[in-house]
Amino acid sequence: MCGIIGILGTAPVADRLVEALRHLEYRGYDSAGIAVATADGMARLRRAGKLHHLATALLTTELSGSAGIGHTRWATHGAATEANAHPHVAGRVCIVHNGIIENHADLAAELQAGGRQFESETDTEVLAHLLDHMLAGGAPIERIMADLMPKLRGAFAFAALLDGGTQMIVARRASPLAIGFGDSEMYVGSDALALAGLTRRLCYLEEGDWALISRDGAAIFDADNQPVERPVVLSEATGALIGKGNFRHYMEREIHEQPEVLGYTLAYYLDSRNRQPALPVLPFDPCKLPRLTIVAAGTSYYAGVVAKYWLEHVAGVLVEVDIASEFRYREAEMPVGGAALFISQSGESLDTLMALRYARQKAQTILALVNQPESSIAREADVVLPTRAGPEIGVASTKAFTTQLMALAVLSLDWAAKRGRLSADEVADRLQALGELPELIGDMLSNLEPYQPIAHGLAQARDVLYLGRGTSYPIAMEGALKLKELSYIHAEGYAAGEMKHGPIALIDEGVPVVMVAPSDALFEKTASNAREVLARGGRVILLSDAGGVQHIGSFASHIIELPTVHPFVAPILYSVPVQVLAYMTALEKGTDIDQPRNLAKSVTVE
Ligand code: M6R
Repeated sequence: MCGIIGILGTAPVADRLVEALRHLEYRGYDSAGIAVATADGMARLRRAGKLHHLATALLTTELSGSAGIGHTRWATHGAATEANAHPHVAGRVCIVHNGIIENHADLAAELQAGGRQFESETDTEVLAHLLDHMLAGGAPIERIMADLMPKLRGAFAFAALLDGGTQMIVARRASPLAIGFGDSEMYVGSDALALAGLTRRLCYLEEGDWALISRDGAAIFDADNQPVERPVVLSEATGALIGKGNFRHYMEREIHEQPEVLGYTLAYYLDSRNRQPALPVLPFDPCKLPRLTIVAAGTSYYAGVVAKYWLEHVAGVLVEVDIASEFRYREAEMPVGGAALFISQSGESLDTLMALRYARQKAQTILALVNQPESSIAREADVVLPTRAGPEIGVASTKAFTTQLMALAVLSLDWAAKRGRLSADEVADRLQALGELPELIGDMLSNLEPYQPIAHGLAQARDVLYLGRGTSYPIAMEGALKLKELSYIHAEGYAAGEMKHGPIALIDEGVPVVMVAPSDALFEKTASNAREVLARGGRVILLSDAGGVQHIGSFASHIIELPTVHPFVAPILYSVPVQVLAYMTALEKGTDIDQPRNLAKSVTVE
């Protein structure tokens, strides 16, 4: 995954390329580079590390030209060095690329046999040489692209600047790419955000499309190499970069935005007249649905696991939930008349997108729960369920997760009512409890002092366990994921009852155990698991309400007492303290909270 930008302009482009890359840093921040067609030929500026290194270098480098391409990288082939940074150049071709050319080694061997030499370890440079080699034959571009595209295996999008910056060849397969139309200028970018400061008029390339772009417009060809028109739409994406406000990190800001965005999301899914669920119209009857398959990655997958518990328990719906990167390779059967729900903050996770396409082949109705309504996953879905979280910049997902849960909670209640599993009053009770969350979470966030000593202790640990039962089990997994990615401490989330089947061997005084334990129907059993930890010398950090604290608080080394809420809404409430614990532990460790090592916000490779 990486971010791509290209401009065929009428005014200098270098600064505009870097500005567009700021909007794409969520796709990778291992290195960044631009290339500009200058009077003396193609000039490149590349830097390892985050974009600000490139931006600083540009302050003292003259790169004058009105056509150029830029790239922000999440390394797949070759380390995050300047030599491996894009753009890559071969003869007439200067290229930026997102994705993986899976057969790059075979292609490189053929090109090397023909005398080509490579300066980097990237699959991208192989693509640059291959395109240059094919162009050297002098065939028309249509012929060359008809030959090139079938030679490339994998998911990719690329933009190649040719001939001193007069034209660009762009292409996509699975990875997204949009063409932007300006006044006498043309643009290409990985997404609407990249192009937001440049134009609102966009056209999204479809699967297998390629295009030849000049300043006069774009000639687009489909996967069969036939000329094709793609609709030009007006993007809603705004070019405004969100600041951190008074917060130290985007993640901190996003944690504190949760009361507000949870309210927006709940309001979106409620009928304001009668405060009953009001979901977008679905092309199937939930009472007759044979199965809902939920597929997602990372934190979004944990939202799916919570939804499985909710939908099965309150709505009696048969639900299967799977990790996107595994799902399509299982070649799972899917029932006739079934529906599949894909959950994704970015709407661009390639694993999730590919799983969606698998479900499409299996004739499922496709629902997408996304935070980016113009994303690939949203565009390929039959029904889009938006979260109203607003832009999430921190790599660690926080407000996107809780708003996903909010939307899924209302969906579960809607289906429970339709399937006759909950009465109108029971639905109203739970909606009322959801409606109280923004204020309760706001109150919780106004006093984070109790977290400080716990975070201090966690920062000393080598391993941390998170345990929970029922809907607290996915929250335990989410807590562990947050701690891992932010503080680089090894952490595991387990179903509390599963601990005795193995992980209990890890328990000693050096392994803190975070118990996610609202006093719900399963509390007694979770309390027994807490006692098992204590009996083996373990340290329990208890997240519970007044009832739970009264019961087992005396055993815990630390307690975070949360408000008592309806058990149905507890997973949303308990998500927040696990986020705060991970955030404050990372503060203690001094890690890069908004852009942790090795990660990217949106993962667009398999
Ligand atoms: O954009 P998506 O929701 O599809 O992203 C899925 C995961 O990559 C994402 O949730 C990841 O696990 C987060 N960094 C976790 O905080």
